[in-house]
Amino acid sequence: MRIVTVVGTRPQLIKAAALSPVLRERHVEILVDTGQHYDEALAGVFFRELGLAQPDVSLDAGSGSHAVQTAAILAGVEPVLLRERPDAVMVYGDTNSTLAGALAAAKLGIPVAHVEAGLRSFDRAMPEEINRVVADHLATWSFAPTQGAVENLAAEGIRAGVLLVGDLMQDLAARVGRDVRDPAVLAHLSDLPAGIAAALRPGSYLFATVHRADNRSPAAMDTWTRLLADLARPERPVLLALHPGTRAALAAAGLTLGPDILVTEPLGYRSSLALQLHAAAVVTDSGGIQREAAWLGTPCLVLRETTEWVETVRGPQSQSVLVGRDRAAARAAIDRLAPIGEAGRVAAATRAASFDLAPAGAATRISDALGVGVPAPPGRRRRAGAA
Ligand code: UD1
Repeated sequence: MRIVTVVGTRPQLIKAAALSPVLRERHVEILVDTGQHYDEALAGVFFRELGLAQPDVSLDAGSGSHAVQTAAILAGVEPVLLRERPDAVMVYGDTNSTLAGALAAAKLGIPVAHVEAGLRSFDRAMPEEINRVVADHLATWSFAPTQGAVENLAAEGIRAGVLLVGDLMQDLAARVGRDVRDPAVLAHLSDLPAGIAAALRPGSYLFATVHRADNRSPAAMDTWTRLLADLARPERPVLLALHPGTRAALAAAGLTLGPDILVTEPLGYRSSLALQLHAAAVVTDSGGIQREAAWLGTPCLVLRETTEWVETVRGPQSQSVLVGRDRAAARAAIDRLAPIGEAGRVAAATRAASFDLAPAGAATRISDALGVGVPAPPGRRRRAGAA
């Protein structure tokens, strides 16, 4: 099959790095980078460190309001699809690149394959929720990472073309996680400044990321910066890998971060995984990091009130808590899940030593499903090339 894959943001580059090599064993892939993310730390690094093929087409859509950014990608993708005439268009996740890629393809009657289909936070205030709902309703293949996602699709009447494939990010975490099991890696992460690396002891720091639109308003930033300051201690600093959009928003609001908060640029995949594995706990609003922390067994405070990855916060074994921006809830969660001191350090060391995550097998299942051809069209869905 001839497939145009549309990527554009950090998590999509990571997912494409997990799928693309497997896909290319039996399909022809044309990689389109929308350029939604363009900074080296958010985009370039992933091509190099994960071996992702250079894009065949770069659209340089860049930043803008949702409408401006989505429109730029739509207008950029359409001529590529007309020229390449693929049998399918592959989109990942829930970003504006996903929405625009799916919409441009569906309007041309080209079947859409949606990876990470069926996730719902049931919060339409999140731009990602709107993007994923629309992409799911346009997709011919819905590659669901979890049984819950399959059920969400069924609840919206989407059953044809739905396949439970597992989580692509787990395939990658299983592969790279093995390389970073030794805590000594912390001293040798190429993108972590040496001064910061020297301040980190395994099990004695918190790893944090904050990038969601919802966490970039001045009021929200005022609260989560205090929340991080509450958790940071000289003997257990917070390492914050800061998205450039959040950095700019903090500067515009004149907010500063407290002492014992070490700030870096966004990090590559390997560093991020290593820092999560050896942390006392993770504090994040990222869906990807939330899952990675769960696979690694690291306690996780989620700076959101809802999540589409409900499995990570459910059940007695869960070490993940939705704390939103509630400072008291965050303090209580960290005291329960990752108490400061020797016990926390031992827990982190034990976890790293016993890390043995199995791949989910998602990449192979997706590639095989596409190899079978376009599923029987339900209702109004059309085959590629049909009038
Ligand atoms: C996007 C996705 C989000 C995903 C995240 C992963 C949407 C709606 N959001 O959020 O779902 O979790 O990527 O990181 O698609 N910026 C830079 N450099 C860049 C890119 C962006 O500085 O390379 C800054 C710009 O100021 C920009 C802001 O970040 O306005 C937001 O970027 P945008 O692509 O709109 O969304 P993200 O917050 O990155």
